[in-house]
Amino acid sequence: MPATNQPVQLHPDLAEVLLTETQIRQRIKSIARELKSVYGDGEFTIISLINGAVMFTSDLMREIDNPVRLDCIRVTSYGNKTKSAGTPQIIHSLTLDIANRDVLLIDDILDTGKTLKLVTALVRDLKPRSLRTCVLLDKKARREVAIEADFVGFEIPDKFVVGYGLDFAERYRNLPGIGVLKPEKQNASAWATG
Ligand code: IMP
Ligand code: MG
Repeated sequence: MPATNQPVQLHPDLAEVLLTETQIRQRIKSIARELKSVYGDGEFTIISLINGAVMFTSDLMREIDNPVRLDCIRVTSYGNKTKSAGTPQIIHSLTLDIANRDVLLIDDILDTGKTLKLVTALVRDLKPRSLRTCVLLDKKARREVAIEADFVGFEIPDKFVVGYGLDFAERYRNLPGIGVLKPEKQNASAWATG
């Protein structure tokens, strides 16, 4: 075990660490309490936006003792870029029936808002009894579409972040914390295979 007073080093490709594993874990516990105050002991259906929200969803679910159902929606990603390009598209949609269900939609980060707008519209068309949204990170400065999440883990500055599910060119999702990727590492061709 490293000494607790050592500086956090998540990965050498990061310019700075924004959130440690411990900070994330603590915040998730408090989000779980917020969910309890809204849902009580009732059942709800979690819809996780994959791949980015996998870690957040699985850690949050383990803090919830309500009966929950889980389904996933896959939306087009940034690909090998750090800025959202154009309109996101749904690649894989729901398999569970959510009509008359209480639905909690979970994503990793709310950025321009286009993804959450698209997915909430799709979910609303399926007539859930209620729909709430939960994101781990909120980059308010980049919002292009008027949408806010009901539950937010952390507000973060306008920097490209990776780790804890968030990727650049599909890399770094496995880091246990979240940090800012060094500018010189924001170059997807460096990851190309020969
Ligand atoms: P939006 O549609 O612009 O709100 O973007 C939401 C999606 O973009 C998220 O689900 C992430 O997959 C991705 N994204 C936005 N900002 C970042 C970032 O800083 N790092 C990694 N992925 C990001
Ligand atoms: Mg995503």
